[in-house]
Amino acid sequence: MGKGQELYKRAKKLIPGGTQLLSKRPEMFLPDQWPAYYSRAKGVQVWDLDGRSYTDMSIMGVGACILGYADPDVDAAAHRAIDCGTQCTLNCPEEVELAELLLELHPWAEMVRYARTGGEAAAIAIRLARGATGRDKVAICGYHGWHDWYLAANLGDGSALDAQLLPGLEPAGVPRALRGSALTFPYGDRESFERLAAEHGQSLAAIIMEPARGHEASLDFLKGIRAKAQQLGAVLIFDEITSGFRMCCGGIHLRYGVEPDLAVFAKSMSNGYPMAAVVGRREVMEVAQRSFISSTNWTERIGPAAALATIRKYRRCQVDEHIIHIGSQMQSLWWNLSDETGLAIRVGGLPTLSHFEIKGVEGNDPLALRTLFTQLMLERGYLAWCQFKPSYAHRQEHLAAYRISCREVFAIIHRAIEQRTVAKMLKGPISHAGFRRLVS
Ligand SMILES: Cc1ncc(COP(=O)(O)O)c(C=O)c1O
Repeated sequence: MGKGQELYKRAKKLIPGGTQLLSKRPEMFLPDQWPAYYSRAKGVQVWDLDGRSYTDMSIMGVGACILGYADPDVDAAAHRAIDCGTQCTLNCPEEVELAELLLELHPWAEMVRYARTGGEAAAIAIRLARGATGRDKVAICGYHGWHDWYLAANLGDGSALDAQLLPGLEPAGVPRALRGSALTFPYGDRESFERLAAEHGQSLAAIIMEPARGHEASLDFLKGIRAKAQQLGAVLIFDEITSGFRMCCGGIHLRYGVEPDLAVFAKSMSNGYPMAAVVGRREVMEVAQRSFISSTNWTERIGPAAALATIRKYRRCQVDEHIIHIGSQMQSLWWNLSDETGLAIRVGGLPTLSHFEIKGVEGNDPLALRTLFTQLMLERGYLAWCQFKPSYAHRQEHLAAYRISCREVFAIIHRAIEQRTVAKMLKGPISHAGFRRLVS
């Protein structure tokens, strides 16, 4: 066991849940073996606490580091902000510059507010929508963070959110009084949405959804929701925390020509520095004048400085073209290796949010196969998982080298399935797929 796993064992006794983010729990990847902590990260290279180096062909800081780790231009902007003082009695001018840039990218929007995490920004958007409409209920599609307004959806039978990306989210501590205030509908299911709208339409403050996630949006579905929100007088919120800056510079909704009333950004807008924004129409945004939405750390300087540098570089280098190309190549690579080795897989996702799953043929648990893949790739020097979020730092040579190891690993797994030796080959427990209590 390396130093990382030793440290994680200590962490689990001191920090409930081990980490601050479910998606960074080592159990989600490779229980007992995942390096767990990094000492340094640069480009697509990551060094663990034992000095071992890995190439990150997985999720790049849970999608935050779209330019690559420790990008020199963004880091230089952050250093300048540090040198000039990151906090002050006065405000930092970068806030205004960034607002102008975000509104230039999203011409339908008129005003901007900031936070530092995605969940916070989504909570701001919900507060604005409730304030603007004087209504309480929210229609939800997708994952939008940890706050009470969202987890309230699971106050019913506890499973309403299971089909919305993260299964098993427990609403312990969320006031029972919120039961019935958050109602879910599945992406692309117009009938479900219409039923929800017919029953609750007149009390809906907001409809919040990711415009696209697993695949390109269904334009009819998006347009239908836009029209219905208008008809009901509900605020349409696009959560662009993951989809933003993935397929174009700004929200993915720009590609579809469907405009929300509010859009929420975080993660890749600042290449890993804490920053989040809500952009939107004036009449909804101005609710922030009469509802108290305010926090000291939303005024620090590094976030907006990093976001400005990230977005400017993104534009200058046409990062969208690069990551779409790399992501598409990865999808072809998986398909081709499946053909070459006989390992049955499914590939899906937008090119920049790609994923694959090894089919659980011959009674094999797909989660066990996924765990074995991560284990074997780790032994070959890769942080590799069932998802790939390409960054600007990923280059052809990374794909070419990954291909060699991935081919070997696919062939080994195929053989293990045939010989029924998958369980024997696993050196630790099978990975977790959703939220669950950890044993220390
Ligand atoms: C679509 C979406 N909304 C909200 C969030 C929550 O953002 P954060 O983890 O920054 O609070 C995420 C994070 O994965 C997300 O993907």
